[in-house]
Amino acid sequence: MKRSRALRPLSSEHHQALLVAFQVRKALEGHPEAAGAPRDLPGLVSLARRFEGQVFATHAAAEEALLGAHLAGADRTRLAAEHVELKALVEQARTSAPGEQRTALAAFAGLLERHVRWEERELFPYAEAHLDAAALAAIGGELELRLVLAGQGSRGVRR
Ligand SMILES: [Fe+2]
Repeated sequence: MKRSRALRPLSSEHHQALLVAFQVRKALEGHPEAAGAPRDLPGLVSLARRFEGQVFATHAAAEEALLGAHLAGADRTRLAAEHVELKALVEQARTSAPGEQRTALAAFAGLLERHVRWEERELFPYAEAHLDAAALAAIGGELELRLVLAGQGSRGVRR
């Protein structure tokens, strides 16, 4: 299904999220081709932290504020809970010893990937089917302001 124009700013950041998840996962597996990811744990932690600070924090807040009100209760709860958990895993990776760092980063990458796929495959199609054109356009306008015009996400996660 083609993504509605209104939700495209979120979807384009989802591509970045999937890339970060892929990079972290491959690097942790010691894969030689980790799509340019750092190979050391401190480098991976800082990649996750940059993604969180430069893209994810604003992205998650916008989703909760703009889409949350239109979702069924269980979906709204899951959306917010997974955002909280992703942030907590980044914090855990930042503050723990190397063994736990690996575990936290692997959990972060796995949840990020599942979370994005759930949004793209279930949540967004639901919103597109249940919101009228005016509501979708209002969301799209606000996303444009919060994500696109703010310059977020247009250049990927910066070093
Ligand atoms: Fe999202």
